[in-house]
Amino acid sequence: MTSTLITGIGELVTCDPREGEDSPLGIIRQAALVIEDAAFAWVGLAADAAAADERVDVQGRSVVPGFVDSHTHLVFAGERSAEFTARMAGEPYTGGGIMTTVSATRAASTEDLRANTARLVGEMAALGTTTVEIKSGYGLTVADEQRLLEVALDFTPETTFLGAHVVPTEYTHDRAAYVALVSGEMLDACAPLARWIDVFCDAGAFDEDETRALLQAGVAAGLMVRLHGNQLERGPGVRLAVEFGAASVDHCAHLSDTDVASLAGSKTVATLLPASDFCTRGPYPDARRLIDAGVTVALATDCNPGSSYVTSMPFCIALAVREMRMTPAEALLAATAGGARALRRVDIGRIAVGCSADIAVLDAPSFVHLAYRPAAPVVSAVWKAGVRVGSGGL
Ligand code: NIG
Ligand code: FE
Repeated sequence: MTSTLITGIGELVTCDPREGEDSPLGIIRQAALVIEDAAFAWVGLAADAAAADERVDVQGRSVVPGFVDSHTHLVFAGERSAEFTARMAGEPYTGGGIMTTVSATRAASTEDLRANTARLVGEMAALGTTTVEIKSGYGLTVADEQRLLEVALDFTPETTFLGAHVVPTEYTHDRAAYVALVSGEMLDACAPLARWIDVFCDAGAFDEDETRALLQAGVAAGLMVRLHGNQLERGPGVRLAVEFGAASVDHCAHLSDTDVASLAGSKTVATLLPASDFCTRGPYPDARRLIDAGVTVALATDCNPGSSYVTSMPFCIALAVREMRMTPAEALLAATAGGARALRRVDIGRIAVGCSADIAVLDAPSFVHLAYRPAAPVVSAVWKAGVRVGSGGL
């Protein structure tokens, strides 16, 4: 067993409400922590720290939990910059471009898909993300969805079957047949490779009855539920997510008062994806309204080549603070402990003994710099499961 003492931490933001000051941030000043193998073995005041095999002095910097990015679509080929340019000139986002990426992805080799995913996961890690959820959804055939999930599993255990992303063009005239395929043969092939099932329940994708049938099949196959809902209109997404006891309903840009009240009375997390609203010029969700109603909120990038070609959780934190009326503390909690809740995980998203040793060291005295210095390289070093990753220097 090897141990590493990280000391000289000016501000340790544990995101564990049982620790230190400023609950629920759980801040310990002049702190240190000890990592043994993949987990935290000790957390406390630097003055009380015992020796370890290795010692790293971060010289007064702020340390936060590694970010938990609970919503991405990283396994894809190609890019859609022309669609982005058109949107910035006033075209609306409809999800219609998804088929462009499906065609490119079907044509790509598995090795190319793996290399592109590795590039993006590497970018994310350098920016402080230590856990990533990855969805399928750009294959939309049995063999391609299976292939995408196999690639995703090389990078994370948090894999999500999204065969119900859109109805592919070859099934436009027989939607029922595609729903039957996804909830039958495709689900049988993909369920062993996935932890979650997701459906894009929105205008232009799947309606309430289709979504209910798809989720019922997923649950019967042993998958847990998360949902894309209420991105483009006030649809049935939130209602269905709560009905199915989903871990999370994601986007939530268009919510009725009933939606907010039902989320508040549930264990379903509202995962907000401000980078997709930025990149589609969509309305930002009102995080203040959700938090004030008592809803648990998470932040994620939604990284994909269409609506949000964004790998940076710090950028999402900055948008959430500037555009969604979240405090810097709420935004950090949503990007760490909130993401963990959205994945039903208790071992990540906070700095506590026994949890996975995932941290981001900030080149700043306070975590507030994540929002206060947008686009600056604020994350200077990252440890994931006790191992130093990324290329930043302390
Ligand atoms: O979460 N909304 C559905 N799916 C993605 C977009 C995928 C795409 O445009 O390629 C999203 O925004
Ligand atoms: Fe998405």
